Amino acid sequence: MSKRIVEKLNISPLPEPTVLVTVKTNDKSPNIITIAWTGVFSVHPNIVYIAVHPARYSNSMLRESMEYVINIPSDNIAKTVDYCGIVSGKNVNKFLETGLTPIPASIVKAPLIKECLINMECKVKDILNYGSHDIFVGEMVAVHYDEAVLNENGSLDVEKIKPYGYTLGEYRSMGEKLGVAGYSKSGIKNREN
Ligand SMILES: Cc1cc2nc3c(=O)[nH]c(=O)nc-3n(C[C@H](O)[C@H](O)[C@H](O)COP(=O)(O)O)c2cc1C
Repeated sequence: MSKRIVEKLNISPLPEPTVLVTVKTNDKSPNIITIAWTGVFSVHPNIVYIAVHPARYSNSMLRESMEYVINIPSDNIAKTVDYCGIVSGKNVNKFLETGLTPIPASIVKAPLIKECLINMECKVKDILNYGSHDIFVGEMVAVHYDEAVLNENGSLDVEKIKPYGYTLGEYRSMGEKLGVAGYSKSGIKNREN
């Protein structure tokens, strides 16, 4: 089959995470924003990023507080996560509207979301801009795991986290397990293509 050249990519065809980022300033109620553009820059130290459009209410709160929490949702709250991505904290208190529970973080002012089973407290190290979105580079200063996502060895368990992805405007739960990292060591002769 031939390849078609398109002018530009408006939406990522890769599965992206959907996370709930919380932010809090001294004079405003805590806010929640849904973010798909997030990821890891470094492991030692733990450096992550979130890309936030300047028009978002959260953007100014992030600039003021220079702190945020990345809360990882499971698929059972996908609709609530969508809601936090279509309304603005400028007009609604998303904690009150969704019933999500704010609990105090250990270091930053922004709250953790109790219903999200993994929470990462971050302090902003840098703000980058390559165009449409501001990239808030954060150093992870504390990580919280709910007991519910740990297996008997105390390790994170994907089956318990129940993450899901966002692709071409659709939310999709994870499908069946394909293998484990390094499983190609046994050979790639039986590949499908
Ligand atoms: C699935 C999904 C992913 C989103 N990802 C981002 C993102 O990565 N960056 C961003 O700036 N906005 C993103 N948005 C849009 C914001 O979440 C949305 O504009 C939100 O209402 C902003 O809230 P705020 O005004 O309270 O900050 C996303 C929305 C959805 C539904």
